[in-house]
Amino acid sequence: MIDKQSPLPIYYQIQELIRKKIDKKEWQTGDVLPSERIFAEQYEVSRMTVRQAVTELVNEGLLRREKGRGTFVAEQKFTQTLQGLTSFTEDMKERGLKPSSRLVSFNVKEAAGKTARVLGLNDGEAVYEIQRIRLADHSPMAMETTYISKALIPGLTKNIVQNSIYEYVEAELGLAIGYGEQSLEAALAMKKEAELLEIELNDPVLLISRITHLQDKTPFEYVKSAYRGDRYKFSIQMPRNE
Ligand code: GLP
Repeated sequence: MIDKQSPLPIYYQIQELIRKKIDKKEWQTGDVLPSERIFAEQYEVSRMTVRQAVTELVNEGLLRREKGRGTFVAEQKFTQTLQGLTSFTEDMKERGLKPSSRLVSFNVKEAAGKTARVLGLNDGEAVYEIQRIRLADHSPMAMETTYISKALIPGLTKNIVQNSIYEYVEAELGLAIGYGEQSLEAALAMKKEAELLEIELNDPVLLISRITHLQDKTPFEYVKSAYRGDRYKFSIQMPRNE
């Protein structure tokens, strides 16, 4: 209920009320919200206040407005911790989602430039170049381009990369994955990414670049990914060190 005597602004109380309904799954993804008029009458607040509350939640990505149709509960973002080195397959399984991959391309190329350098290869050595769309419960989350040294990780097949690369490296090849270095930056989806990720051109994406090393420090993969900005959010615990 809205408490008009509370020091908390009314628009904020409305937002909390909406958040709670979504948290408790009383309102679920795709559900339409009551109109501003009904909302305002029900809680005895002005339509302006309801609009302000809803607009902020739309900007935050919790709700989604469709012209002429109303306001809906948006697909909720997936929170990915930045601590620890995990695979896409592990991340999805941990949340009870079904991971899968749509293979865009699978080639063996000659390493050159930055790819050769980060993988510690000479120009001309063989690398796999694998492009995958990663899906959770059949819906696209990210597009990944992976470069892997062929000599170090032999025997990759289309079938293997449609499942988990990390599982193949560890369980099949018996190699220990050690650590990764990763960077994140914001970008706008380009034509190909937008099509494959099923978003609009220029929608926000997060570009993630990862170099992963085996336990003996040899770099084995260089990955450039574009994660859907409307699906992902990253979190990290930050202890304050001396
Ligand atoms: C995540 C990382 C990639 C890594 C992949 C391995 O998606 N961003 O850098 O290559 O996991 O996932 P999988 O073992 O499912 O192929």
